[in-house]
Amino acid sequence: MEVLFVGSECAPFVKTGGLADVISAVPKALAGQGVHIRVLLPAYPALEKLAAKAKEVIRYDSLMGGPARVVEVKAEGLDLLLLEAKHLFDRPGNIYLGPDGKDWGDNAIRFGALCIAGADIAEKGAGRWKPDIVHVHDWQAGLIPVYLRQRGCNVPCIVSIHNVAFQGLFDDGLLEKLGISPSYFTPDGIEYYGRISFLKAALVFSEKIATVSPTYARELMSSEFGMGLEGVLQTRRTDLSGILNGIDLDVWNPETDPALPAGYSVRALKKKALAREELARRFGLEAPKGAPLFCVVSRLTSQKGLDLLVDVLPDLTGRGAALALLGTGDKQLEDSFLAATRRYPGQVGAVIGYDEALSHLMQGGADAILIPSRFEPCGLTQLYGLRYGTIPVVSRTGGLADTVIDANEAALVAECATGLQFSPVTAEALANAIHRACDLYSQPQVWSAMVRRAMKHPVGWESSAKSYAALYADLAVKSGKA
Ligand code: ADP
Ligand code: GLC
Repeated sequence: MEVLFVGSECAPFVKTGGLADVISAVPKALAGQGVHIRVLLPAYPALEKLAAKAKEVIRYDSLMGGPARVVEVKAEGLDLLLLEAKHLFDRPGNIYLGPDGKDWGDNAIRFGALCIAGADIAEKGAGRWKPDIVHVHDWQAGLIPVYLRQRGCNVPCIVSIHNVAFQGLFDDGLLEKLGISPSYFTPDGIEYYGRISFLKAALVFSEKIATVSPTYARELMSSEFGMGLEGVLQTRRTDLSGILNGIDLDVWNPETDPALPAGYSVRALKKKALAREELARRFGLEAPKGAPLFCVVSRLTSQKGLDLLVDVLPDLTGRGAALALLGTGDKQLEDSFLAATRRYPGQVGAVIGYDEALSHLMQGGADAILIPSRFEPCGLTQLYGLRYGTIPVVSRTGGLADTVIDANEAALVAECATGLQFSPVTAEALANAIHRACDLYSQPQVWSAMVRRAMKHPVGWESSAKSYAALYADLAVKSGKA
């Protein structure tokens, strides 16, 4: 089975969040399932060098106002198709935002071009390769299913929703430039309250819809979480499935992680303490005694609920615990955490920025990781936490609810707890969870049993890879491709 993945990020080349990890991990996980995946993504500056020496498979004299081409290349174990279009993608900094911190004004055109290239590959192939199925990820690839419908091309599509908060909404004046017939601009088509919605286009015109956890799949059909698309998703209920994300067990392996001062494992846990010391040192903290060292590794946005953490820092520090935070995003939140480092010297440390290696040290060195998200389609950092024996303290939502077993009385007696959950997502409930974590930490045997269990919890791709393979097989059968 040949599958074309289309998305806007792919680790390790370009990453702003978990989407990048998932796009690069699934092809490797599915290779053993008889599924071969090629990933189409824009040739941003980070990929330009790679693109320059790659083989051209499609050439455009003009694609959205400039010359462009698709090239094929293998890198980091992935089969890549790169869309080179310097007028659209040769820009420094963030791949979505200009230097003013706002979306690039031509994002509809930039990602519309990616969708045209995706549709061309599905319809006519790239060189000698042609996909049986197209798997589009998030709104940036959302127009592909409507282009294929418009062209009468019957290659089936599946769309993955990684985060329904991002829908790709644009002015309807762009229809002509995007090459979409006005007949699709209707409430049961791609129109969303008078605007073009890239994500809705994919939800309406794809054969199947996937999202990244079973709980988020259910939540998406409610007005609380659907962000206006719950109605569309309810009508597609039978085609919607939730498949949990996994993590790359080679990249996230505490035994071999080069970012840690020493490797450790569930059988030899002692050296986790060295990472704890190193983490405390890096953040200017006094490593707490008898109380946990918490960490946060996150985008600082309202989704992640970290404003609530600012409110409960008196609880955390009052218990003698400490916090190391690595994150970037909303200026106001960044400033709040920087202010907290001055208010609680030695107990709260923050690094504002994006630092992959430091994020590994944090997973290795902290005792617990705080994830108080208001919504979380899947979440990866709680999975890294489990693997590194860094107890996840999470809100009970989306993939967080599906991957962490709360240390309630019954779970402790049954010896199956792997972390702490709290609900509702309020400062009060978060404070309670932090107090519970401190109580458990003060019982070393209980805590260390939980750490060992967490480390054994399966967080790889094995089971989800099978679910994707089954989904593709089903789609291929239904569309007569198999
Ligand atoms: P989301 O995609 O919503 O941001 P996920 O938990 O799925 O949430 O994925 C976030 C990914 O980005 C993880 O791999 C996490 O380690 C990484 N990450 C987030 N913020 C930072 C940061 N400041 N520095 C390094 N890595 C980060
Ligand atoms: C999104 C979600 C996150 C998920 C990631 C990868 O960024 O916010 O929960 O883990 O996509 O699917």
